Amino acid sequence: MMNTTSYSSDAFLIEGGATLKGRVRVSGAKNASLPIIFSTILTKETCVIEDVPDLLDVKNACELIHLLGAEGDRLNGRVLIDPSGIDRYETPESIVKKMRASVLSMGPLLARFGRARVALPGGCSIGARPIDQHLKFFVSAGAQVLVKDGYVNIEVERKKPAEFEFELVTVTGTENALLYLSGVEGRSILKNIALEPEVIDLVEVLRKMGASIEIEGRTAVVEGSEELKGFHHRVIPDRIEAGTLMVASLLTGGEVELENVLPEHLGAVIGKLEEAGARVERLGADRLRVVKVGELKPLEIITEEYPGFPTDMQAQFMVMLSVTEGRSMIYESIFENRFQHVYELKKMGANIEVRGRSAHIEGVRELTGAEVISTDLRASASLVLAGLVARGTTVIRDIHHLDRGYERLEKKLRELGASVERLPSLVS
Ligand code: EPU
Repeated sequence: MMNTTSYSSDAFLIEGGATLKGRVRVSGAKNASLPIIFSTILTKETCVIEDVPDLLDVKNACELIHLLGAEGDRLNGRVLIDPSGIDRYETPESIVKKMRASVLSMGPLLARFGRARVALPGGCSIGARPIDQHLKFFVSAGAQVLVKDGYVNIEVERKKPAEFEFELVTVTGTENALLYLSGVEGRSILKNIALEPEVIDLVEVLRKMGASIEIEGRTAVVEGSEELKGFHHRVIPDRIEAGTLMVASLLTGGEVELENVLPEHLGAVIGKLEEAGARVERLGADRLRVVKVGELKPLEIITEEYPGFPTDMQAQFMVMLSVTEGRSMIYESIFENRFQHVYELKKMGANIEVRGRSAHIEGVRELTGAEVISTDLRASASLVLAGLVARGTTVIRDIHHLDRGYERLEKKLRELGASVERLPSLVS
């Protein structure tokens, strides 16, 4: 069904030193698009999703929906899905391996069929990433869960409302539970939920489909329905892409204007940028400009659940702090192994010491170009930023990690004046 774009493990060649200037449009949010694509499993009516970014993860999510039996089309950011033909409830390992977010098919498949069989995602480069909270939720909702041969098999005899409190705040765990309960008649209660803007965007969609969801603090009261409707929805702007471009502007001493950005989703990021010495000018409800005023200042950052400082912005800020005079500290409280970019940044001359979950950064005068390797999505973004500010040439291999989450980043950076070139599949 969906039109495809080809992705490969290309490399980036970046000539450092450009000052970024101009205007750039932020794409729709990847992490909002994915659960919304999976929500279509809950209905038999056609759904239209606008401003969906053209990314590898999105392509994989569309492919999964297609494998389950849906029809659809993807063109210019508009995804149309006709889920009436969905007649399978198994999400194979081949897809889950490519995209962890496929676990989000569990909730809607269980709601639609009373059963789901979904390959178990393994750990990944940023941590063990268990899904015990997702499974505990399903058990609390009366489902039987059997993990066997690398698959999670879930079955529920009679769907009934649930009351569940998450032991920790989990984004996709909350989304899976909301997706399931929206397809279940009756009043359910979820406590200690994640409140990330992407979760709230999914809630908007589930409401459009006919579920009633009330949120107060970290508690959601859900009244689902067996007859959910199709919907038309535009996904929120990608706050992590916006944050990455804002750091790029400040880091290069430039003046970048962002369009399609919601400053209210970026409170903690804007706060830290201002503390570091940026002036963030609000130009309208969804436009802002980042300007550097004076020398950059060191920071102390602790990653936290929303509305705290996002773990997905930690690596990008680390690059900025690497070239900021003084001592900075970043404490990563969400994922236990999210400092892999440190090793690569050190190749470029950064002075960073990792002790457990904290990274201590001593600012250096400059970074120098080197050959580095991407290890995960946000680590890749940080290496791109490092390349932009470094003296000389940087080659970043395995850029497919970046392609999972940033739409045409090199094109956007080039339009702002950066020298970034894509080298197709560099063989090592
Ligand atoms: N956790 C558990 N048990 C669970 C679920 C989570 O122990 O059942 C732990 C995780 O191991 C982690 C913490 O709880 O230490 C938070 O994990 P969470 O479940 O919130 O992460 P996620 O839902 O798997 C989403 C985003 C990530 C983002 C995190 C945190 C999507 C598709 N992914 O992951 O995005 O970093 O929330 O905000 O929404 C990215 O885009 O690069 C990315 C990794």
